[in-house]
Amino acid sequence: MIDGNSEAAGKTAHQLPKGYQSLHHLQRPYTERMSTIADLRKSYERAELNEDASHADPHAQFAQWMDEALRAELPEPNAMTLATVGSDLRPSTRVVLIKGYDARGIVWFTNYESRKGRELAGNPFAALQFHWVELERVVRIEGVVEKVSAEESDSYYASRPLDSRIGAWASPQSQVITGRGTLVANAAQYAARFLLQPPRPPHWGGYRLVPDTWEFWQGRKSRLHDRLRYRSEARDASGQPHNWVRERLAP
Ligand SMILES: Cc1cc2nc3c(=O)[nH]c(=O)nc-3n(C[C@H](O)[C@H](O)[C@H](O)COP(=O)(O)O)c2cc1C
Repeated sequence: MIDGNSEAAGKTAHQLPKGYQSLHHLQRPYTERMSTIADLRKSYERAELNEDASHADPHAQFAQWMDEALRAELPEPNAMTLATVGSDLRPSTRVVLIKGYDARGIVWFTNYESRKGRELAGNPFAALQFHWVELERVVRIEGVVEKVSAEESDSYYASRPLDSRIGAWASPQSQVITGRGTLVANAAQYAARFLLQPPRPPHWGGYRLVPDTWEFWQGRKSRLHDRLRYRSEARDASGQPHNWVRERLAP
């Protein structure tokens, strides 16, 4: 450590609560800090993914890995990163929760007028990513996004706790607001208006990503990871991607 910074770093470490002391490296000069981060390395050795032991259908492979993530009791195994692209061609990402999946695709719920909602309205192509750190696994999913039916949205909305249902009315998601007070005031106003029976807001509901490409990544030793990609070569009579081709990608 460069001398001029060691005192400041020591002081900061001293003031931080227990468990946060490792943050003292943030006081170091930029170049040294970068080398500290660059030195973080992990060897991935938990499992392997190969052609013989994987499913021919990516939906079945996903179901198995999702199930294993749930059974491993990971923190928030249902959290996935959703990437969309705006009309300015700039990509953006955010985390959403998977709320269901079946042969048609992967479902989450949100505000249709949010940034992601507006971007999806203009460009339905999107990508999802799960990173299950403890299992050394990543799933990447690409495809076209559609709104779920009003009935599906109604049914999921009705299953949410009351404060979440009010929250869907109270938050003009992704818009600039003057302060937290706006949300609190909105929530109070909608709670008084709807009492125990808020209807589903017209701007809130589900999306389904219909996958045409999947990738399952399993970390392996010496950076020779396993990557199996599935791409659909055709669509069935209902327009669903099928005829999956499974290919190994170099890590
Ligand atoms: C673990 C986690 C789960 C989340 N789940 C959702 C979700 O299911 N739906 C949602 O609209 N936002 C969810 N959010 C908030 C989003 O990440 C994001 O802040 C919000 O949707 C606004 O994104 P946008 O402005 O890009 O549209 C979640 C955030 C976290 C950290």
